[in-house]
Amino acid sequence: MLMDDVKEVLISQEKITERCRELGEEISRDYEGSVPVIIGLLKGSVPFMAELMKNITIDCETEYMAVSSYSGTESMGDVKIVKDLDRSIVSRDVLVVEDIVDTGKTLEKVKELLYSKGAHTVKVVALLDKPSRRITDISAEYVGFTIPDEFVIGFGLDFNQKYRNLPFVGVLKEEIYED
Ligand code: IMP
Ligand code: MG
Repeated sequence: MLMDDVKEVLISQEKITERCRELGEEISRDYEGSVPVIIGLLKGSVPFMAELMKNITIDCETEYMAVSSYSGTESMGDVKIVKDLDRSIVSRDVLVVEDIVDTGKTLEKVKELLYSKGAHTVKVVALLDKPSRRITDISAEYVGFTIPDEFVIGFGLDFNQKYRNLPFVGVLKEEIYED
């Protein structure tokens, strides 16, 4: 059973739903008058993007990109574009939706790329923030929850591509990634 691998539930589904409502309201207020391009980073952002966009009440467009840098529980440092955007973002206000900001390397690279494609502004909304692990100047303008330095899974976050389907954010048992 999937649940047997979970050490503890860190953030419940109810808390995530509630926080997405607040973030949606805040983003809708801040982007009033613009038609932002909201870009979800595959695959981790999918559940968060789905929950968040239901609460965005202004005109917006949604797009997806995929970048990769992680293997197991360690960042590989080198960020690769796996799926690029298929539409122009020239002069657009872009909001990147990410599951978690850890070292910040992924978002540093993604922001740089989006600006090089002509974006007018690039901001970030992240479900989770692990500031203790940061090695770049990157910070998300909108953060769902700030968490301690623990490896988390669920609500989109994976360990070796598994556990993304858990409806909450949880801590994985150490024995799962130690062997
Ligand atoms: P960064 O480039 O180090 O900021 O890493 C960001 C990416 O690493 C996220 O998009 C996640 O895919 C992954 N990541 C970082 N921390 C965790 C974690 O605790 N659990 C699962 N994935 C994580
Ligand atoms: Mg990711």
